[in-house]
Amino acid sequence: MFDAEKFIKNAIEETKETVAGTTIIALSGGVDSSTCAMLVGRAIGKNLVCVFVDNGFMRKNEPERIREIFETKVKFEFADASERFFDALKGITDPEEKRKIIARTYIEIFNEYAEKYNAKFLVQGTIAPDWIETKGNIKSHHNVALPSGMTLEIYEPLKDLYKNEVRQVARALGLSEEISERMPFPGPGLAIRVLGEVTKEKVEIVKEADAIVREEISNANLKVWQAFAVLLEGKTTGVKGDKRDYGYMLAVRIVESTDAMTANAMNVKWEILQKITSRITTEISNVTRVLYDLTSKPPATIEFE
Ligand code: XMP
Repeated sequence: MFDAEKFIKNAIEETKETVAGTTIIALSGGVDSSTCAMLVGRAIGKNLVCVFVDNGFMRKNEPERIREIFETKVKFEFADASERFFDALKGITDPEEKRKIIARTYIEIFNEYAEKYNAKFLVQGTIAPDWIETKGNIKSHHNVALPSGMTLEIYEPLKDLYKNEVRQVARALGLSEEISERMPFPGPGLAIRVLGEVTKEKVEIVKEADAIVREEISNANLKVWQAFAVLLEGKTTGVKGDKRDYGYMLAVRIVESTDAMTANAMNVKWEILQKITSRITTEISNVTRVLYDLTSKPPATIEFE
């Protein structure tokens, strides 16, 4: 049986023994990095600088919300880097290349902050499934596959935990449900939910669709592991009013899981799926079709890229 209090006590001791001087953390607002920030913050206080990078691929209103939540809790730096990420991804279509470029850009930014603060350590919220999957070459999770040229030493206090354990630790550290029960969200964000080349127009579409999916899941009070929308490649024919339309196509993915190592597509009520579909196709212009993904993991991964 996992004991969150005991874990916290040991992790605080370990942190004090491991890091020295100013330390920075990549705080995304997800449960993993938020828990890490609170944990390491408990151990070293103001010596921890929490850098939040707005890569432009966050969920709707997320950057502002994360700033609001953490600004008063920890030493918080907001890095507005969306233009930098969009530029770096111009013309790139291969999923692994996208992930690697995003990782590289993150590292460049963190190195800049490390220099600014003269930090030697970078704390990351890597958890067990991240490195297990990276080792198996399934996907290069951005917080595991670090490019060479890193000048910071990495410290990963949650590396042996699974998600349900991280949530327990988050609650024990006093984080609110908004954070502790938060749906997992991939580091590369909506960039890997726009298949192929990432453009601002496409990110806006998937951001709106994602907000609709989450709102309807919450209205229906559904307990899910993840629920999101993905913008597929290619366009499809539709009809709006009495005119032909030719627009984008989105997939909705709603899965149940306990640790993301395996997952099942959720048997969601037809009415909920219809509501999501009708909202996406009416509220977002340029979308003519919505599909529901029935595939389990394995054989599919949870994310499409
Ligand atoms: P997959 O798609 O590999 O996803 O079945 C498993 C879980 O991990 C999340 N995910 C990521 N998280 N960095 C992260 O921090 C990443 O690069 C990344 N890729 C996937 C995914 O949302 C799911 O919860």
